[in-house]
Amino acid sequence: MVENAEQPAYPVGLRLSGRRVVVIGGGQVAQRRLPALIAAGADVTLVSPSATASVEAMAETGEIRWERRRYEEGDLADAWYVLVATTDPEANARASAEAERTRTWCVRSDDAEAATAWTPATGRIEGVTVAVLTGNDPRRSAAVRDAIVEGLRDGTLAAPQHRSRAPFVALVGGGPGDPDLITVRGRRLLAEADVVIADRLGPRDLLDELPPHVEVIDAAKIPYGRYMAQEAINDALIEHARRGRSVVRLKGGDPFVFGRGMEEAQALAEAGIPCTVVPGISSSISVPGAAGIPVTHRGVAHEFTVVSGHVAPDDPRSLVDWASLAKLRGTLVILMGVDKIGKIAEALVAHGKDPATPLALVQEGTTAAQRRVDATLATVAERVRAEDVRPPAVIVIGPVVREAPDGHRR
Ligand SMILES: C[S@@+](CC[C@H](N)C(=O)[O-])C[C@H]1O[C@@H](n2cnc3c(N)ncnc32)[C@H](O)[C@@H]1O
Repeated sequence: MVENAEQPAYPVGLRLSGRRVVVIGGGQVAQRRLPALIAAGADVTLVSPSATASVEAMAETGEIRWERRRYEEGDLADAWYVLVATTDPEANARASAEAERTRTWCVRSDDAEAATAWTPATGRIEGVTVAVLTGNDPRRSAAVRDAIVEGLRDGTLAAPQHRSRAPFVALVGGGPGDPDLITVRGRRLLAEADVVIADRLGPRDLLDELPPHVEVIDAAKIPYGRYMAQEAINDALIEHARRGRSVVRLKGGDPFVFGRGMEEAQALAEAGIPCTVVPGISSSISVPGAAGIPVTHRGVAHEFTVVSGHVAPDDPRSLVDWASLAKLRGTLVILMGVDKIGKIAEALVAHGKDPATPLALVQEGTTAAQRRVDATLATVAERVRAEDVRPPAVIVIGPVVREAPDGHRR
């Protein structure tokens, strides 16, 4: 029974909540299918003498009931739906014959033709379930499903909601710069925004994809007159929100890592405007990672500390305790530190850190312009000058810098 133009399968959405579903066989197929059955609220009984570790875990947490034995005639009593997926063709055939007799819709992993139901490739986005059947070409089903889900997610597939959506304000962490490194939620909100207020850092390429009606405001260019620039940004957020527009404040990395995200959230709260905060991948971890540097590594560094290098250690406004940092054995990650790295290295050495401690500067990490410059605390000031390292860069200090993916140390 292969789907063709004459005899396509009849698509339907089963509402399985509280209804008995029997899964026969506890291998990889069950492992893949069970989460969706559990999510649908089905009352699942697994019949199988063995199961994969993940399936076993589902039984342990009570998400499914597991009968540790082979299939027996009568197992499908009262079942609404059955998935037959053992490695024993004879057991599969017997179970499928029982399903036929008891008029239970039956999916078979080993024989699509003998099955009375097929599992589509499915995806869920924004309350829409996408289910694709292409007869006997599961890869094509998955590819079509991915294209639809991706299109809905990034807004390239226009599917306007007919129920009007309340306007929202969201502080979205855009990740370190590579447009693929924003979260799924961040990207979706971006696709739904009327106004986007964006920083210089972060995934600026995503802004090009926005539909023409979206107003994109460069945060650095908001005029601030007698105010502080941050106050002007807060005011712009509040003003657009009050006009009933959906506003995304797109920030580099994570909004709450040296991102002033909380100041914006507080300003909105004071104005009585609720906002959603969408975490982002912070450059403090991802930029070293993109340059092959793990911020922790077993037996080498069991801690990492992220500090701002914006204010020099000898500046009375500095809130960073460089003397304590010099004593740490773990990894030190410095953001906004390129201009002050000479003074920072001096301070760390003056407080007892070995001048030969390795470090790396990773400029414009995760973008096409990414580059890495290696040095030590003793040589960094000179290396930054010689190599003309410029912000934005993440500076990583500590022995992890010498680790390489092939297991050899640099
Ligand atoms: C104001 S902080 C914002 C950090 C951001 N909220 C985060 O979580 O990544 C800006 C600093 O982050 C670092 N940074 C952000 N993106 C970077 C990138 N793609 N490459 C290198 N450094 C980056 C630089 O140290 C830069 O000076």
